[in-house]
Amino acid sequence: MDYNKVILENVTVEYGNGRTPLRNTNLRLNGNGLVLVIGDTGSGKTTLLRLIAGLIPWIHYARVEGFIRVLGLNPLNYNDARRIRLYVSLAPQSTNYAFTYTRVYEELYSRQQFLEEHGVRIKVGLEDLVRLLELSKYIDYKISWLSGGYKRRLIIARALLGPPSIVLLDEPLSDLDMESSKTVLSLLEDIRRHTLLVVAEHRYSFFTNNNVDHVYKLVNGELVEQDMVYEELRLC
Ligand SMILES: Nc1ncnc2c1ncn2[C@@H]1O[C@H](COP(=O)(O)OP(=O)(O)OP(=O)(O)O)[C@@H](O)[C@H]1O
Ligand SMILES: [Mg+2]
Repeated sequence: MDYNKVILENVTVEYGNGRTPLRNTNLRLNGNGLVLVIGDTGSGKTTLLRLIAGLIPWIHYARVEGFIRVLGLNPLNYNDARRIRLYVSLAPQSTNYAFTYTRVYEELYSRQQFLEEHGVRIKVGLEDLVRLLELSKYIDYKISWLSGGYKRRLIIARALLGPPSIVLLDEPLSDLDMESSKTVLSLLEDIRRHTLLVVAEHRYSFFTNNNVDHVYKLVNGELVEQDMVYEELRLC
């Protein structure tokens, strides 16, 4: 199906402190695949993901101008923003305040239950993700007992559950060593075949033509599509 899952037309986002990370930016994403978003620190990658996830302006206040649609819904409308959160999952950049429950299994199980209750077909379930991300040893642990790398795996597992139509992953490789990064990347390679993944990542040297479908760079508040060739990416 060739309809746009994400449309941004002349979108500007200005936070209450006057920071304006997105300025008259445009983006159209359709189908499935992995879209990599790169850009300097503070360029607005997290802001872009928060906007698509329906968290701006409801959780993170900002003034927004322009036309936005996510799966045909308007994230600037409160009821639409609530529905977007059902079809779009976000793995946040920070592991602080990222969890609702005390134990690992509660965090994953409650998310899976929520998706099932709302009719999301579970293609990649809790047991698969626990196995693939090697979380089984920690399933009964308190989340506060986990190391940074395992908190990151848990955040990724929770976002990939289902998965819903769009999965947003904000710096998914931070806190991960080389081997864990490869494990996460191979999981994303499989999931991108039936889901749209939008990944904001500093460590984009892990991404190549083989595992990325499109690359955008945030430059002065605008999204600029990049050539996907890895060597060129390294230079930009
Ligand atoms: N809630 C907020 N209130 C005010 N300013 C904010 C808020 N969140 C982000 N900013 C500012 O907006 C700009 C973009 O931040 P954002 O976190 O989107 O960038 P980023 O590209 O994700 O950075 P990084 O690579 O460091 O994660 C920065 O100048 C930041 O200070
Ligand atoms: Mg960020």
